[in-house]
Amino acid sequence: MPYRSRIIGTGSHLPEKVLTNAELSKSVDTTDEWIVERTGIHQRHVAKEGETTAALAFQAGEKALDAAGLTGQDLDLIIVATTTPDNTFPSTATKVQAMLGMDGGAAFDVQAVCSGFIYALSIADNFVRAGQAKNVLVIGAEVLSRIVDWNDRTTCVLFGDGAGAVVVQATETDENDQTGILSTHLHSDGKLRDLLYTDGGPGTNSTVGHIRMLGREVFRHAVTNLATVVDEALQANGLTQSDIDWLVPHQANKRILDSTAKKLGLSADHVVITVDKHANTSAASVPLALDTAVRDGRIQKGQLVLMEAMGGGLTWGASLVRW
Ligand code: ACO
Repeated sequence: MPYRSRIIGTGSHLPEKVLTNAELSKSVDTTDEWIVERTGIHQRHVAKEGETTAALAFQAGEKALDAAGLTGQDLDLIIVATTTPDNTFPSTATKVQAMLGMDGGAAFDVQAVCSGFIYALSIADNFVRAGQAKNVLVIGAEVLSRIVDWNDRTTCVLFGDGAGAVVVQATETDENDQTGILSTHLHSDGKLRDLLYTDGGPGTNSTVGHIRMLGREVFRHAVTNLATVVDEALQANGLTQSDIDWLVPHQANKRILDSTAKKLGLSADHVVITVDKHANTSAASVPLALDTAVRDGRIQKGQLVLMEAMGGGLTWGASLVRW
């Protein structure tokens, strides 16, 4: 019998240290007013020295496993979406595997920048549908503060650190029960890679580099691509905009969220927004927002949840889940 993936637990973790716009404006030429008006961001969490992506990922992963009633021993796959791995190699996922005490199975990282969690969820779903995995831990985790140029006001105000996770479980499909991941949709366009990139890495002279971005261009592509992929996801499932209960978008900028919600005809009270408190946490932003809305009781069993994201590459994607 074919398998379907269900999300049976969520978790998230944020570094303790909070950096407000007012504090940031002491070190770079900006104001709280400018940041809030252009982005909707009021604050971001920043990892302390020694606090790595793996450390945040582990905490989020443990909470998701707890919510699912599982332990690391029950997992057969861990996928970590990150653009800020602890080391060039080995993968952050293998570090998390050891921290969770998981024996056997497999663990690997996925790099699709801000779309990373949607990419990782899609891979997990395909492993499950193929019958190759039963319990998968999917994590999005980042310490973007380590690759932000803190002297560049056009980018440093936008990003934050954090981690979010879900446990995906294989269940045999049942015609009477249509819950679980309905579909995932991934896209990329490498011709647009220069719109958002880091000026470092093993292929350059610099070891890590900093985030560089043509903000207006990224904004323009985000609005168009997200609307297109959302339509694609709805059409693939014979659903319409009015069927969506919750939009859980990548938290890049409140203006991008508002414009996507408007295109979908969704009022603000159907959109999960965390960008005000977390800023843009790249691959962590969707699972962080998802966990927030699951734990505060907004997302309820049977509801239709639409997740979407766009990021460097450019990459973009969406997933529809019947909770
Ligand atoms: N504080 C004060 N002034 C600033 C700041 C700042 N932090 N940053 C830029 N400015 C200035 C600029 O220098 C410019 O000044 P000038 O007119 O004297 O030249 C002015 O503000 C306007 O700059 P723009 O870049 O045109 O401002 P814009 O309205 O486009 O907003 C922003 C910039 C917020 C980056 C916007 O383009 C955006 O959100 N783009 C999407 C990018 C994004 O979210 N990237 C994240 C990764 S990709 C993703 O997750 C989808």
